[in-house]
Amino acid sequence: MSYLRNRGLDIRNLTVEYQGGQAALKSVDLFLPEHSIYTILGPSGCGKSTLLRSIAGLVKTYHGEISYNGKALPEQDQVLIGLVPQNYGLLPWKTVQSNIRTAMRISNSGTLTKQQQEQRITNWLESMGIADLAHRYPLSLSGGQQQRVAIARAFAISPQIMLLDEPFSALDAITREEIQRIFLGNWNSLPTTTLFVTHDVEEAILLGEKIIMMTSNKEDPLIVMDNPLFSIKPEEKRDSEQFFQLSKEIRKVMQEKW
Ligand SMILES: Nc1ncnc2c1ncn2[C@@H]1O[C@H](COP(=O)(O)OP(=O)(O)OP(=O)(O)O)[C@@H](O)[C@H]1O
Ligand SMILES: [Mg+2]
Repeated sequence: MSYLRNRGLDIRNLTVEYQGGQAALKSVDLFLPEHSIYTILGPSGCGKSTLLRSIAGLVKTYHGEISYNGKALPEQDQVLIGLVPQNYGLLPWKTVQSNIRTAMRISNSGTLTKQQQEQRITNWLESMGIADLAHRYPLSLSGGQQQRVAIARAFAISPQIMLLDEPFSALDAITREEIQRIFLGNWNSLPTTTLFVTHDVEEAILLGEKIIMMTSNKEDPLIVMDNPLFSIKPEEKRDSEQFFQLSKEIRKVMQEKW
């Protein structure tokens, strides 16, 4: 049925100007089908965070349209959005588990019993390898640990749309690979409609069904690249010829347009 093809996050002609500043985004068009995951690469300052923040409803004064499954965002509050902001966005006066609990309460995971809710918090903390940090406060954690809490929190609310802003940037290479694998495993078992911003070309290829490239010229349309590697096993991706080719193609765009 043709209308099913239109299900997803639809961004049309999105322009954002911060007060007194120049346009942070100019006439951006992007369609992200429901249950797909796209990664976004772009130079510093091109508007990646602004794009995510606009979708999440944190930037309220924009021109253009943002809708999900045909309904305008963010006015319609039926759509639950999980955002992992670049600065983690944790409440410093609450413990790790209390941060997640608060997000679940606000997002109204109301159908769960208290016990189920606590179990879900524990499961997500365990999956991110930080169960032992449940009672700690965010400011006593390393950047990488805070990032993992923020990711656990985003998954715990079972959102319809997940927006991640360089969520693994503070992790060391080995932990990062492990968390990427866990993240992709979680995503495969529950394919939430996801936009994932990264600075890392490898990460963009490993995690994105398509790779969106933003450029330093805000007049340019987004570049959308198909990723033929998406459906093969993570451990086989890095060694494949296609991985090498795609990295080369991406780096070429970076050299020319960043
Ligand atoms: N709150 C704000 N007020 C004014 N200008 C802002 C604000 N936030 C961002 N900007 C400006 O908007 C532009 C886009 O910023 P944004 O944070 O979206 O970029 P980014 O692509 O996420 O960069 P980075 O890779 O460094 O995180 C920049 O020129 C930035 O200075
Ligand atoms: Mg940013």
